[in-house]
Amino acid sequence: MRITVFGTGYVGLVTGACLADVGHEVLCMDVDEARITRLEAGEIPIFEPGLETLVKANVEAGRLQFTTDPTDAVAFGVLQFIAVGTPPDEDGSADLRHVLAVAGTIGEQMYGYKAVVNKSTVPVGTADRVREAIARGVAARGVEAEFDVCSNPEFLKEGSAIDDFAHGPRIVVGTDSERVRELMRECYAPYIRLQEKLMFMDVRAAELTKYAANAMLATKISFMNEIANLAERLGADVEQVRRGIGSDPRIGYQFIYPGCGYGGSCFPKDLRALAHTAEQLDYSAELLKAVEAVNQRQKQGMFTKLRQAFDGKLEGKVIALWGLAFKPNTDDMRDAPSRDLMEALWAAGARVQAYDPEAMKECRRLYGERDDLVLVADRIQAVKGADALAVCTEWKEFRTVDFAWLQQQLTLPVVVDGRNLYDPALMQQAGLLYYGVGRGDSLTARE
Ligand code: UDX
Repeated sequence: MRITVFGTGYVGLVTGACLADVGHEVLCMDVDEARITRLEAGEIPIFEPGLETLVKANVEAGRLQFTTDPTDAVAFGVLQFIAVGTPPDEDGSADLRHVLAVAGTIGEQMYGYKAVVNKSTVPVGTADRVREAIARGVAARGVEAEFDVCSNPEFLKEGSAIDDFAHGPRIVVGTDSERVRELMRECYAPYIRLQEKLMFMDVRAAELTKYAANAMLATKISFMNEIANLAERLGADVEQVRRGIGSDPRIGYQFIYPGCGYGGSCFPKDLRALAHTAEQLDYSAELLKAVEAVNQRQKQGMFTKLRQAFDGKLEGKVIALWGLAFKPNTDDMRDAPSRDLMEALWAAGARVQAYDPEAMKECRRLYGERDDLVLVADRIQAVKGADALAVCTEWKEFRTVDFAWLQQQLTLPVVVDGRNLYDPALMQQAGLLYYGVGRGDSLTARE
């Protein structure tokens, strides 16, 4: 089957490479010429485990190609996936400029039937606007052309995107067209051999499903962070509480890890966009607003603890920071809790010595050269000469630490752990002042 994918960002590139890998012929289109040149040379603009190998193998096999030419792109596939970015506008709503531009291009260039598949995360009702934009493009040429627009939201997680694409629990398709149903069955057939995963539904329901899934997951996290904050004040260990409630299958173990707040490209943006949609409908989405508010406060939590540990005197202090990415196995720092922490530390006059296995380049790109930020080559150098240690990302390599050694490195010696990686009892034995999230310590309670 011939498939065109517009957008070679995270979702577009993973979609294109994965569909090519199961035997489809895929053409990925992007307006960014430099990006396409790099991709053709096998250079992957993002860090995602397995993606580089997958792209290279499929380019070599001739199943995956790249272009900047819109005419070629529209002519190529019967399925036209739109997987371009929907960055937040100033008011939090999703900016549909890129999505509608692609729709316009398809309308201006298409001959013969096209099924336009929207994969970008877009507000409910966008499919109608995509349909209008295509129709305008077609009408401007004074021709007639047949097309359908459907919604096929993406649920993949950074760091395990390829596996999620292949083994995700469901494939949601919102459409009212039997022709689209047939085409999408053919497109995803290689993924549904073991289990029927295709869920056909109305377009609007599919669009809302994506937001509802992310909002539900973010709600679980904020809920657990609230319980952790209570546990902290009550002298209870939230890790025990987590195991206690997770064992109930109605609650489950997933997405109830308390921490320093959720970040990334989806949860913060999608929560705000959904709340904004609610506002436009004159509905006050109280729960969504609270989920976001709890998360904002949570992101400040590590700084509050450090400030208390130093009795408010952070000026001139050196804080070692392990982990910059918003989660492991990615170099993404969008809305990462590490950023709130670093920015608050700098404002208080402290210096940061940071290490991350993947996100150092991204950190430099975001913050440039500055005296109060030293990026070091490994976690050991990060703690050299530091007063305290903060852990923002649960990379595997941070999990095992020689606590006695760490105690000797840090002058205070305080460890503020935003991911609850360590055993408070072992930390205490080693003479470290350990503050996790909701581990029954009393630092925050003193605030
Ligand atoms: C998320 C959704 O999981 C995915 O389905 C959707 O398509 C895009 O958004 P992603 O942002 O890549 O994926 O990462 P995810 O693994 O979901 O983590 C998001 C954030 O929540 C991270 O900052 C993570 O640290 C945090 N988190 C996650 C917690 O704090 N606690 C948890 O229990 C789980």
